[in-house]
Amino acid sequence: PIVPVILAGGQGTRLWPMSRTARPKQFLPLTGEFSLFQQTLSRVADLNIYARPIVITNSEYRFIVAEQALEVGSPLSSVLLEPVARNTAVAIAAAAAFASARFGSDAVLHILPSDHDVIVDGGYRSAITQAAEAASKGLLVTFGIIPTHAETGYGYIKSAASAGGKVASVERFVEKPNQARAQEMLAEGGYLWNSGMFMIGATAFLDECATLAPQTLAAARGAIESAKIDLDFVRLDETAFARAPNISVDYAIFEKTTKAAVIAVNFGWSDLGSWDAVWKNGDRDSAQNFTKGNVTLDNVSNSLIASDHAHVAVSGLDDIAVIATDDAVYVGKLSEAQNVGSMVKVLKAHK
Ligand code: GDD
Ligand code: MG
Repeated sequence: PIVPVILAGGQGTRLWPMSRTARPKQFLPLTGEFSLFQQTLSRVADLNIYARPIVITNSEYRFIVAEQALEVGSPLSSVLLEPVARNTAVAIAAAAAFASARFGSDAVLHILPSDHDVIVDGGYRSAITQAAEAASKGLLVTFGIIPTHAETGYGYIKSAASAGGKVASVERFVEKPNQARAQEMLAEGGYLWNSGMFMIGATAFLDECATLAPQTLAAARGAIESAKIDLDFVRLDETAFARAPNISVDYAIFEKTTKAAVIAVNFGWSDLGSWDAVWKNGDRDSAQNFTKGNVTLDNVSNSLIASDHAHVAVSGLDDIAVIATDDAVYVGKLSEAQNVGSMVKVLKAHK
């Protein structure tokens, strides 16, 4: 079976103030009854295809992870706990080292972000099967989404792959371009968005780390070898893990490797990374408003208004984001919702 590895350690700062350091976006029910993390669990629940998932997260989130998995009846194989945040390269390397010891060195891993909105259909399942087969032959497989605009928050994959087709080779991988570069790539054509999901052989990935990211590999191996088992949790060794460079897998491995492959997919997909993305993917009323919680609107359009408890009333505004929580309220232009992340940096600096 394929071993699912769920990455659940991000902080989701652009969805402040609902997404908080103590409860980031992957654990929030942003699009329905269940959190994005729980929806991710349900996508890998078919035991005909998948082993029980491995979750890798920050040690701060261990109880939310355990609680939310229990709530949807998804037993986990293991929860690996990071003592400090070092981004996704070392997280995946640690999970690969762990999975190789637990499931065998030929284990195929499906790496999944925990913060995406994905619509599972026939196309999704066939892409998974094809990707797993390519991964078992040593390719590091990415899933490419047909781009619709010059987004700067995603990675871009240049390939001859076409939707519904086979696994194809990657010509170039460009992580998070600036606006001008994104526009160029869109105009040039032949690029796909990196969905952030990967299918990799544990050994193939660790071998690439040895060549391209040796410090990351040493930190991951050390952290697994000296890990402490605490109930169902695997506490990664802090001294070893903290030595890992703070870098994402996209920059550390995928921009550099020659083993990358891509399968173009056209299933419904969105990274609910910011409030405008939540608005775009949510159910809107006839005036194009997305509301959540106890909200009253009068002559409001193209807006997102969400409240945890307080009754929020808004009148006579267009293109507004209002997010009200128990202890913080954000108000800004919805079309400038990408700025929330930098605002959170300012708030943290003033703490
Ligand atoms: N365990 C762990 N530890 N997980 C982490 C950490 C960490 O330190 N940092 C982030 N994650 C998790 C997040 O919770 C998320 O589920 C996933 O890893 C991806 O991290 P993001 O921080 O959300 O990445 P991104 O969205 O900016 O960029 C990635 O995804 C895009 C698509 O959504 C890249 O792969 C891009 O190329 C891609 O287009
Ligand atoms: Mg993301």
